[in-house]
Amino acid sequence: MEIINSIEEMKARSLEAIKKGMSIGFTPTMGFLHDGHLSLFRKCRRENDIVIASIFVNPIQFGPNEDLGKYPKDLEGDKAKLTSEQVDILFLPNQDELYPEEFKTTVTIRKISDKLCGQSRPTLFDGAATVVLKLLNIVRPQKAYFGEKDWQQLEVISTMVKDLNLDTEIMRVPIVRENDGLAMSSRNSYLSELERKSALSLNKALERAKSLVLQGVNDAVLIKKEIETIISKEPVTQIDYISVCNPSTFIEQRKIDQKILIALAVKVGAARLIDNCIVEKN
Ligand code: PAF
Repeated sequence: MEIINSIEEMKARSLEAIKKGMSIGFTPTMGFLHDGHLSLFRKCRRENDIVIASIFVNPIQFGPNEDLGKYPKDLEGDKAKLTSEQVDILFLPNQDELYPEEFKTTVTIRKISDKLCGQSRPTLFDGAATVVLKLLNIVRPQKAYFGEKDWQQLEVISTMVKDLNLDTEIMRVPIVRENDGLAMSSRNSYLSELERKSALSLNKALERAKSLVLQGVNDAVLIKKEIETIISKEPVTQIDYISVCNPSTFIEQRKIDQKILIALAVKVGAARLIDNCIVEKN
């Protein structure tokens, strides 16, 4: 696997591939790779001639009291995983080059960035969209891959790509879960044994909510109450939000009579975990 640090070199390498008529698939990450990321690389490998991944812990998407300083890292382990997934190029940009002192631009995707996770993490989506736009401009992929665990991020990025007429197709990849149902996340590494047990309540609550909706319960307040009961029974859980909403606008639904997103953010010990599911009544 080739490792590229410089923006100019990455741009030149992509241009060379484009001139040869090769398709470029791209997966941006913040590293500390797990099986959820590997599923993105695998899809990317199947669908493209050249597979590029990036690792960059993007400071502008973290708020002042968030976990930027302790975000987990394992560059050597990540390189081994990327090599075994046959990733061709790892782009490891340097923070000073990506965000020089005079950097002034932020992308805002209005109306959807301030909902759900945007309420308690107001800089998250502007920061993520800005870095993704920069990375797409540098790498120039035909396809870029993102996981549905970050459902709102996927909607924000898809909206940006559409609104700004970018030439990249955004590819969605389903959530990957541990055998016991916990959605994979780099932040799971913050969990103690007790916290990890409590964290299983997120998926358990989503499964219960889904089954109630499919049985015909269409009152969103009731569904949220049920989720809250399941999660708050567990020790060290603190609910940030429970949302039953439209999957694209994130507008809360009172009555469930269409395809809905059920999304959660819960602090379990020091880890803020998110999870979601889509429910479609037939
Ligand atoms: O989902 C992530 O890991 C990050 O938000 C992303 C898309 C790599 C941007 O920093």
